[in-house]
Amino acid sequence: MATEDRDACPHDEGEQPSVGAGNFEISDRAEQIIQRHGEALKDGRLPAKVYNDEEIHQAELRRIFGQNWVFIGHETEIPEPGDYSQRYIGKDPFIFVRGEDDEIRVLFDSCTHHGSKLCRAEQGNSSHFRCPYHGWTFKNTGDLAGIPLKHQAFDNLDPSEWGMSAAPRVENYKGMVFASLAEDGPSLEEYLGDFKWYLDIHLDIAKGGMEVIGEPHRWRADSDWKSGSDNFSADSYHTGVAHRSVFEVGFGSEEISGTAGQETQRHVTHIDSGSTSLRLLKPEDEIYFGYPKEYVDTSKLSDAQADVAAACGAATATVFPNLSFIHLAATNDPDKDLDGFLSLRQWQPAGPGEMEAWSWVLAPAAASDEYKQRAYDVALGTFSPSGNFEQDDFAVWDGIADAAGSVYAEQSNFEMNYQMGLEQASSASIDEDFQGPGVAWDTNLEEGTCRTFHGNWHKAMSGEDVGMSYPEDHL
Ligand code: FES
Ligand SMILES: [Fe+2]
Repeated sequence: MATEDRDACPHDEGEQPSVGAGNFEISDRAEQIIQRHGEALKDGRLPAKVYNDEEIHQAELRRIFGQNWVFIGHETEIPEPGDYSQRYIGKDPFIFVRGEDDEIRVLFDSCTHHGSKLCRAEQGNSSHFRCPYHGWTFKNTGDLAGIPLKHQAFDNLDPSEWGMSAAPRVENYKGMVFASLAEDGPSLEEYLGDFKWYLDIHLDIAKGGMEVIGEPHRWRADSDWKSGSDNFSADSYHTGVAHRSVFEVGFGSEEISGTAGQETQRHVTHIDSGSTSLRLLKPEDEIYFGYPKEYVDTSKLSDAQADVAAACGAATATVFPNLSFIHLAATNDPDKDLDGFLSLRQWQPAGPGEMEAWSWVLAPAAASDEYKQRAYDVALGTFSPSGNFEQDDFAVWDGIADAAGSVYAEQSNFEMNYQMGLEQASSASIDEDFQGPGVAWDTNLEEGTCRTFHGNWHKAMSGEDVGMSYPEDHL
């Protein structure tokens, strides 16, 4: 675990795997920014500069995205041999592909001849990838299958030495495929750690599991990728303000989505690579994120997990570095009931203060086609580039990147406040009765979840734990 005092965690059990840290050399200036970040974060302050800086961006690509497990896609996106889709680790292009042998691979999208990009379509089905430059052709397993004029031009070349490169490590957790550019490090399950307790609720809630509906939405924004990870990790303090208009027109329920100070919320931090926010009603309400009862199946969950699922109408979460979740009961029509969907979102670093957001919609695999369409429509109306909630969030995140990239922010070392929940700064207290792993707070007036994300960022960028601890009277 990267942040805060592990000894102080009531649910702490055993040694925690660490977020990986890279050792890519950076300038003294960038090292100073990272060092100041660690010192400030102990006091709940965050230097704005880290949200928009070229050197920090380059270091993030290497020290964070080059070292840790990064989400690639869900196996239901490529169900047939030959199905493929373009994906990215940081800014590096990969092909997420199911080979003729049914194995899922994450292949580096570069021809081994002179390096051209092989994959020109966002997704599709193909037995081979043929390079548009000189025509070298690779099977969808990555093997080199054909070279134009081979016997005249490359008579001694051994094709087995020149197959496509692949991400060094690829692992699948319940259909979610991750890859790591680091040859060594914790396994995916070790990396997810206790967060699996929450992930299992999202993935095992429905009969037959969850399946991706349609293609992921993708859009560019002048916002830093960390704004998405920070917000979903979980800032529900903003919900009643930034999303006020959504509630006013009846596209969501304030009781379910949550507003500042609401005591039905649990903010959970200290869960290895992640943190989460759960808006909990009473278990007897059996809301299950808005899914019709006939699609719900809690047989794979523990009693405690099933109780959380029954009571939960909205949950957000972030797995470091850039994968977030929202599982939500909402509507795209005030005259219709709330319906459930799960959105996976990935905040791709596109440049300093710039991101490309990706959003996948998932619904119960066993649901009717009509329900899947309904879930997709609700997601489109709420969390997508045209979604009401989504647009509210990006409107404010753009401003953070603007400020962070300013000369003034750099010269004055402008810092943002992340102190809620520190040093008796809020009324939030730990819910000792909460059954899940991590530290659960009894309201959302607590930003340990966000500090966990930024602590993980600091660990990955510097190799050092920030070592924040909770005040005595909160334990
Ligand atoms: S770069 Fe691909 S065939 Fe030459
Ligand atoms: Fe939001």
